[in-house]
Amino acid sequence: MELPTSEIRSIASCRQDFPSLKRKGPDRELVYLDGPGGSQVPAPVIEAIGDYYRLCNSNTHGAFVTSQETDQIIAGVRLKMAALLGADTPAAISFGQNMTTLNFSLSKALARYLPGDAEILITQLDHEANRGPWLTLKEQGFTVKEVPVQPDGTLDYDDLRQKINSKTGLVAVGYASNAIGTVNDLKLISDLTKAAGALLLVDAVHYAPHFSIDVNHIDCDFLLCSAYKFYGPHVGVLYCREGLLNELTTDRLVTQDAAAPHRIETGTLNHAALAGVGAAVDYLAGFGQGGSLPEKIRNGMNQIAMYEFELYKNFYSALCQVSGLAIIGPAPDPVWHTPTISFTLETHTPQEVCQHLAIRGICAWDGHFYALRAIEGLGLLDRGGVTRLGISIYTSREELDYTVDCLRQLVE
Ligand SMILES: Cc1ncc(COP(=O)(O)O)c(C=O)c1O
Repeated sequence: MELPTSEIRSIASCRQDFPSLKRKGPDRELVYLDGPGGSQVPAPVIEAIGDYYRLCNSNTHGAFVTSQETDQIIAGVRLKMAALLGADTPAAISFGQNMTTLNFSLSKALARYLPGDAEILITQLDHEANRGPWLTLKEQGFTVKEVPVQPDGTLDYDDLRQKINSKTGLVAVGYASNAIGTVNDLKLISDLTKAAGALLLVDAVHYAPHFSIDVNHIDCDFLLCSAYKFYGPHVGVLYCREGLLNELTTDRLVTQDAAAPHRIETGTLNHAALAGVGAAVDYLAGFGQGGSLPEKIRNGMNQIAMYEFELYKNFYSALCQVSGLAIIGPAPDPVWHTPTISFTLETHTPQEVCQHLAIRGICAWDGHFYALRAIEGLGLLDRGGVTRLGISIYTSREELDYTVDCLRQLVE
């Protein structure tokens, strides 16, 4: 897909692309700050899903026109997702219901692949979706070790160095924390993992909407993400290093294509949603310059990262002025933090904060966001976790100022 330079979209004016941003709250349009829970969806994505149902709803691999178009759509989406993740081939991209389901399928397959005495390394900072599937393998005799989160919200890399060894079969780690926004040092983790001869699996669900990804650069074996976090529909995406999926014994029907990328895709995929995933990738590419789709995506994601960081820096400073408000995790950084801010208030529980915001039309979530162990490790579970505010491409400075005002009202 080639977009002439003149058609490069401006992030600053992308709000008009999102129909849901016009939805009225009590006094004003709703303010969506729960992007880390799921982003809003732009019109081109909604249209692509609708068009699929309007024009070519059918099963795959038939001789008739709608079936052939469905095959083409799915093949095209694999190419686009490969471009988004920096993968060399669309055969490295599999789809599923969501990230969690794909990760469970993968854990079952890896239990048949790894040596029986292999150790699996997970982290305290991760979402349960990248812990639960590996913890279940304890029942089959695998040793699962956990790298703790430090009080500053970063992973304890010294502990990781100590725990990784020649018996380590898999390191399963997040790219960024959906609870507090910390970006992990993937290059370091990758180097340590490869030196130990282990496989590296990366949960990029929270990272993918904010930064460009290159699976070859981080040298991972598996990477998972979810399109509903990057302006698409509810579809999980799995990258598997070329050739690796074919070596795994997955749960599949005898009638199912045994070759990658289909080998782990059970049943019928959500074709309409996949059409939406392709449109979401095109939408992100629309913010970037370049001669090819991968270049446009990389450039577009870099524009997004810079744009969001500016908003995030100012928002962070304003929140620091709210009395009794404590931000959890490292300070703003253009590389080592996503534009996701989690905090506690001395005077109110996170649930009370979110109720106060909800009445004023601000959509924000409280609790542990399924990163249960991270919130527990930071000593915040007994106090109801944290309030999380996520910046997305459609977030405006005015919305963030309004949010700070609403928080001030609560404490003053
Ligand atoms: C970091 C992270 N990993 C995994 C998941 C689970 O993704 P899914 O809902 O696609 O299963 C989430 C969902 O919030 C997440 O934020």
